Amino acid sequence: MSALQLSAIDEAYERIHGIVHLTPLVANRSLADMADCDLVLKAENLQRTGSFKIRGAFNKTALVHESAGTGVVTGSSGNHGAAVAWAAHYFHLKSHIVVPENASPQKVEAAKSYGAEVEFLGTTSQERIDRARDISRATGLSFIAPFNDPDVMAGQGTIGLEILRQLPEVEVIVVPVGGGGLISGIATAVKGKRPDVRVIGVEPVGAPKAYQSRQRGRLVVLESTNTIADGLKTLSLGEETYPIVERLVDDIVLVDDDEIRRAMLLLLSRQKMLAEPSGAATLAYVLRKPERVRHHKTVAVISGGNIDPTTLCQLLKSSSADEL
Ligand SMILES: Cc1ncc(COP(=O)(O)O)c(C=O)c1O
Repeated sequence: MSALQLSAIDEAYERIHGIVHLTPLVANRSLADMADCDLVLKAENLQRTGSFKIRGAFNKTALVHESAGTGVVTGSSGNHGAAVAWAAHYFHLKSHIVVPENASPQKVEAAKSYGAEVEFLGTTSQERIDRARDISRATGLSFIAPFNDPDVMAGQGTIGLEILRQLPEVEVIVVPVGGGGLISGIATAVKGKRPDVRVIGVEPVGAPKAYQSRQRGRLVVLESTNTIADGLKTLSLGEETYPIVERLVDDIVLVDDDEIRRAMLLLLSRQKMLAEPSGAATLAYVLRKPERVRHHKTVAVISGGNIDPTTLCQLLKSSSADEL
């Protein structure tokens, strides 16, 4: 039996509701026409801290607080770190975030502004996670994994509950895949309540860990990744997320960086919505008008909106007017 139960997602909802935002479902006629489906966007880019990550981070930190923990520690290049720092600040707990030496200054500033102690180390996620676990052992701070933890996955799954309540007639939900915490939470919630709803995972061509795992029938660990979608760059799914993705996710599909860039620009120009590359990957897929999505009531999860201004300016400069 999976470590993540539907009841844990219902409990997570009770914990986080009223604290994290109930993000809107946004319909946009021109994007829907381009995608040739009845499209709505779940705007987690408007979430507290700028991404869905606060849901899992808050759920886990609340449990640490309930069990009289003194603080939390994690290794993260971005959204998860800021979310853990925010949640710790809420409960007046100490937080320590290990970030890569090349971390985006904007994301580091966000974590610091919530009172986190920020430590720079190496460039790989494994280095950061190992260091965070060492700190946890040495100090007693509770380690909060970015995706491979049922309490974190349960928090992310609350998006699935919200979508079913906000749009009961939904037929397809499209979700970006990094380490698989977001999609395993959403798929557990959605398939537990509405098995007829299709769940599709989207990865960048340059980080196809779930795609290759499905093809080979085992958990694949990539040697390297290459994509502008920094939140989806994980080398592999986790032992907790992989079996759920295998069992409950209907399809895993790939999009390339040009498609992601175009989707970001279209979100900006047509909907005045700022998504980071990981957040725009789902729209990139839907814009291809795939058979599984065409003419269906489809929700694309826009998972985050944190992008530093320099990267955004480069993206706008490199785009041509007909993309907008
Ligand atoms: C904006 C954004 N979207 C999607 C993801 C992928 O989430 P998961 O690792 O739970 O699959 C991340 C992960 O960092 C993210 O920051």
